[in-house]
Amino acid sequence: MSPGLPTAQSPAPPTEATTAMIEGSGLSKVYGLSEPRAAALLQGAHPAPSIAAAGGNLAVHDVAFTVDQGELFVIMGLSGSGKSTLLRMVNRLVEPSSGTVHIDGADVTGMEPAALRELRNRHISMVFQHFALLPHRTVRENAAYGLQIRQLPVRERLERADAALHQVGLGDRGDVRPHQLSGGMRQRVGLARALATDADILLMDEPFSALDPLIRRDMQDLLLRLQAERRRTIVFVTHDLNEAMRIGGRIMVMKDGRVVQCGTGPEILSSPADAYVSDFVSDVDRSRVLTAGAVMRPALLTATVDEAPAAVLDRLANAEANGVFVLGDDGRLLGVARDEDLAAALRDGEPDIAGRVADTFDVVPPDLPLSDLLHLAGRNVVPVTVVEDGRLLGVVPRAAILSAIAMPGRSGRA
Ligand SMILES: Nc1ncnc2c1ncn2[C@@H]1O[C@H](COP(=O)(O)OP(=O)(O)O)[C@@H](O)[C@H]1O
Ligand SMILES: [Mg+2]
Repeated sequence: MSPGLPTAQSPAPPTEATTAMIEGSGLSKVYGLSEPRAAALLQGAHPAPSIAAAGGNLAVHDVAFTVDQGELFVIMGLSGSGKSTLLRMVNRLVEPSSGTVHIDGADVTGMEPAALRELRNRHISMVFQHFALLPHRTVRENAAYGLQIRQLPVRERLERADAALHQVGLGDRGDVRPHQLSGGMRQRVGLARALATDADILLMDEPFSALDPLIRRDMQDLLLRLQAERRRTIVFVTHDLNEAMRIGGRIMVMKDGRVVQCGTGPEILSSPADAYVSDFVSDVDRSRVLTAGAVMRPALLTATVDEAPAAVLDRLANAEANGVFVLGDDGRLLGVARDEDLAAALRDGEPDIAGRVADTFDVVPPDLPLSDLLHLAGRNVVPVTVVEDGRLLGVVPRAAILSAIAMPGRSGRA
């Protein structure tokens, strides 16, 4: 058992700071050549052409990445770009030709067979596109399958399987056979099998790619819900940027075995690294990916409760605006003062604007997608307001939404 890894019985205490859970460094994989031959060519000046000339296939070339504990990290790229090979090098289902993998500080690449088995059985679960369920076993037995290698009593295994089936919405299907389930449900059983093991790391290789779009969306939602309930470290492989954007925190884009870009969805959308990434980006529904926080601007017009109505009205007139955000002494957002109410305060001789703060404006959290706030734009005297923990983060003017959603031309393409 590697020292740094928590056991299933005593999970690691939650930490505030992000810690690296999976670290890959200098990872390469050559298929079709002997290991020494591959290693020698990888050290050369031009590995790719020399490996090809020798009849080998450089499937992954010098890839480094870090996945934080509790992160949902996506690897995205066209078919053949090396995603599956890279994913399988994490638990050495594919043996790297060069480079290292560390999991929770432990060097996986140098691990003895017994420690590697322990790592795979206890800490890592895999979910594949075509999940091979055992046809003659019940759904419950299938979900319990990953626990067989553990020395657990049968009863406990089946109880855990039932709990996992319940989590994926199949709590009442434990007794049926796989063929009685739809494709989407069978894929849920695969997910339940991974969850039942209580692994802290899930490696998911295109787990939803074979599903119909609507079911696929359900599965993505389910995964996000499960992740919100109990954060696992997940590496999720997909060839679909929409899926990547929907579920991933960070997305690593691969092409021909190399990393071409790594960043958040909005980062990749706003500045794709090259024409390959731009091509993916052109298929993305930007309004669903871009968030209020990604496109907001600073709020230019603010006032404090103790200001005089005349001074605030003056500022509104200069800015040609109809309303102003009112902040308390502690900087928290109290509300909005409209020009007509400020005029009334002035007429009535009120010393400050405290009595004229209204709540007629729309507040959204920074992670709300633009598609969900477009209908709010332009409804009030102030723009859609982005607030977190009572503080004014910024505003989303209607024009900012429209310009963010408008498709830029495919950069670098004829
Ligand atoms: N077991 C293997 N033997 C030989 N070549 C392989 C093997 N697995 C994958 N490849 C090759 O390695 C490259 C990357 O494949 P893969 O990792 O499966 O990419 P992806 O998952 O992105 O489709 C491809 O050219 C593929 O043909
Ligand atoms: Mg693959």
